[in-house]
Amino acid sequence: MHDGDRPGTLSVSKSLFIKSFGCQMNVYDSGRMADVLALAGYDPVSDAADADVVILNTCHIREKAAEKVYSDLGRLRQLKDRRRVAGRPLVLAVAGCVAQAEGEEMIRRAPQVDIVLGPQTYHRLPDMVARARAGERAIVVTDFPVEEKFDHLAAVSPARSASAFLTIQEGCDRFCTFCVVPYTRGAEFSRPVAAVLDEARRLVDGGVCELTLLGQNVNAYHGVYGEGEATLAHLLGRLTEIPGLARLRYTTSHPRDVTEELIAAHRDLPQLMPYLHLPVQSGSDRVLAAMNRRHRAADYLDIIERLRAARPDLALSSDFIVGFPGESEADFEATLALVREVSYAQAYSFKYSVRPGTPAAEIDGQVDEPVKAERLARLQALLDEQQRRFNDAAVGHTVDVLFERRGRNAGQLAGRSPWMQAVHADAPAETLGRLARVEITAGHANSLSGRLAAAGTEARG
Ligand code: 5AD
Ligand code: SF4
Repeated sequence: MHDGDRPGTLSVSKSLFIKSFGCQMNVYDSGRMADVLALAGYDPVSDAADADVVILNTCHIREKAAEKVYSDLGRLRQLKDRRRVAGRPLVLAVAGCVAQAEGEEMIRRAPQVDIVLGPQTYHRLPDMVARARAGERAIVVTDFPVEEKFDHLAAVSPARSASAFLTIQEGCDRFCTFCVVPYTRGAEFSRPVAAVLDEARRLVDGGVCELTLLGQNVNAYHGVYGEGEATLAHLLGRLTEIPGLARLRYTTSHPRDVTEELIAAHRDLPQLMPYLHLPVQSGSDRVLAAMNRRHRAADYLDIIERLRAARPDLALSSDFIVGFPGESEADFEATLALVREVSYAQAYSFKYSVRPGTPAAEIDGQVDEPVKAERLARLQALLDEQQRRFNDAAVGHTVDVLFERRGRNAGQLAGRSPWMQAVHADAPAETLGRLARVEITAGHANSLSGRLAAAGTEARG
């Protein structure tokens, strides 16, 4: 029998379901929310229907992402009604950037929501959940507290995979005119070096051998270090001193914050993987200026050239926005020209999406939807072709793969190459969580196939 939530009852049911939308930082944050609620006795379940607390960790970056949340909330309202009738009430919380941006408005639009909490308040979740379960309604916590949330979050739980995320920086001061991040995540903040190293060591002790350092503008990192501050390049160097940490990555970077020292790190640190996500957004100087990116296309190409000189096998990835207000056909063609010049291993491209409250939403010359769709299709065709060429070029080579999960077929494992390509190969279960040499046998649009190489085979990367 279910005991409900009566005070003094020992067996209060405490199960938790979290759904993450959007970026990798949300995936990391969802893990930390689960950690902090685990201390309050909440166990994760894989289905909202079995949970006492459901959290949607939302993304506000484009309109579509934000709207997905409301369609999920519609379905959850029905679940909540059924659960009330069944005598096992469900607490529904919305976290993340939509919560931050909409605040009270969210409860007006979706009254089934009990808790609205912004990304800087996750450490207060146990208190909010307890209040909601005691019957309090419409709890909205979207301030940016002066206290540092990372200091209050629980120690990370043991990693579930050989590859883990670690947030080192949050928020952004760059104010690109299309972007909501500076408003939803707030001002740029870097975690102290000691806190990052502590968390990294704990993760490595738990079996992690690849870390991806996360930040909205991660290469603006300037965490407290002794009496002064450390750069990202310095932090990367310190992380390479942790025995067992075989691979390092970082994302997402701004071209203006790529320093000589960081470029040198790509040359000097073998653990730093030869793959970099460096968004350029557009190849047109006019559009870049209107986006407030503060660099020209030529500056970006120059950075890429210097990075490739430092690490010749560096694979590149980027984000692109097509149909930014005022973007002409000639501007768009400049983007295509830049893509041809760089040749990307992978990339993400989006139609410009108006975000209320951002400067670009007010610019005249919004581009018509069919024009955006047509440009996106042309850009993606070019990027897909480049990705396919990059993947095909791996065939016949032997590469190091970190096997992170089971593959789709029985006996198969899936992992990543140094260049972030997904690799599938038949491998014994004990290879899970390990680096292994794999001979690539076929390239596909989004992945590679291979077979385990004989011991002693020289690996590329
Ligand atoms: N419209 C379309 N794409 C956007 N991005 C950010 N804001 C918008 C917007 N308003 C894209 C950028 C960014 C990525 C995370 O999302 O390309 O790099
Ligand atoms: Fe947004 Fe990135 Fe620009 Fe910051 S640097 S405002 S996070 S697009």
